[in-house]
Amino acid sequence: MARRVAVVFGGTGFIGRHVVQRLAKRDFVVRVVSRGTESARLLMTQGMVGQIVPLGAGKLDDATLARSVEGAELVVNLIGILAERRSGDFARIHGELPGRIARASAAAGVRHLVHVSALGAGAGSESLYARSKAQGEEAVRAAFPAATILRPSIVFGPEDSFFNRFAGMARVLPVLPLVGGGTRFQPVYVGDVADAVVAVLDRPEAAGRTYELAGPRAASFRSLMEYMLEVIGRRRRILELPEGLARFQAGLTSWMPNPPLTRDQLILLKTDNVPAGDAPGLRELGTEPTPMELVVPTYLSRFRVGGRRTMAAA
Ligand SMILES: NC(=O)c1ccc[n+]([C@@H]2O[C@H](COP(=O)([O-])OP(=O)(O)OC[C@H]3O[C@@H](n4cnc5c(N)ncnc54)[C@H](OP(=O)(O)O)[C@@H]3O)[C@@H](O)[C@H]2O)c1
Repeated sequence: MARRVAVVFGGTGFIGRHVVQRLAKRDFVVRVVSRGTESARLLMTQGMVGQIVPLGAGKLDDATLARSVEGAELVVNLIGILAERRSGDFARIHGELPGRIARASAAAGVRHLVHVSALGAGAGSESLYARSKAQGEEAVRAAFPAATILRPSIVFGPEDSFFNRFAGMARVLPVLPLVGGGTRFQPVYVGDVADAVVAVLDRPEAAGRTYELAGPRAASFRSLMEYMLEVIGRRRRILELPEGLARFQAGLTSWMPNPPLTRDQLILLKTDNVPAGDAPGLRELGTEPTPMELVVPTYLSRFRVGGRRTMAAA
């Protein structure tokens, strides 16, 4: 019998690795399309010999996309960036590429397309990130109307760049600088997001729908930081930066390949990142949202004074 094939763009990333693992468990041959095969190769141990296939794609031109999705039953797009390295990156990576993947998938007769966007995507947003995510959604819908679009809030899990990043800062800094402390998020567990991706295989009603993925409760940025400090057992003053200073700092670090804060993120931080309420979510995809209290302490323990051993002894 022919093997079922799934293709994951962005499969080497934080969410992608969990998606690849789940698809391998469901017996798919999983093609992981990546700019460098090395990180995709590391995923090969998630499946049987030959089950995870790293596809190196120097340039994601239309011919490469067509070759990548050929014969696939499911295509998942998880490619995304937080900051532009070159002007126009958001437009290219979030705005145009999803439509090109969707067109290639439609032409190849792919059955399920899952596009991972972001909560807050909006054509009318002041933020380039949010506008480019909205353009991408529109392009996907136009090319592949039956696609399922998932919009996660901030995602937490062992290798997240949210709690880990701030816990790392708290380990070395005497104060924790913060911008937008009142902005509310509804963090969602990476495993739940990966379950949502795979759920479309069993739920025909997911075709053509957009889901907002969030955890069980919303919390302000400040209270999430207070919770993180409590978990790692470090007392730090949280210092809310005035907007002017934050803009100045963002300008200073904008040259960095992985800047701690960009001006576009400052714009995003002005708006709550919680579900609008009228869209379906994790429960409609059969997943009960995991509380962060169940997971976050398991991976932040390394930031405690004395490291993991202190936590285990406690
Ligand atoms: N993590 C969150 O909190 C969160 C929240 C909301 C939405 N999302 C969205 O969910 C998706 C996955 O997020 P993630 O956290 O898993 O991201 P991630 O860990 O940063 O991984 C992103 C993936 O995108 C690929 N990529 C990055 N830049 C690229 C480029 N210029 N051209 C081609 N591929 C590129 C990378 O693949 P290679 O390096 O292997 O090529 C990587 O596997 C993204 O669309 C993101 O916007 C994430």
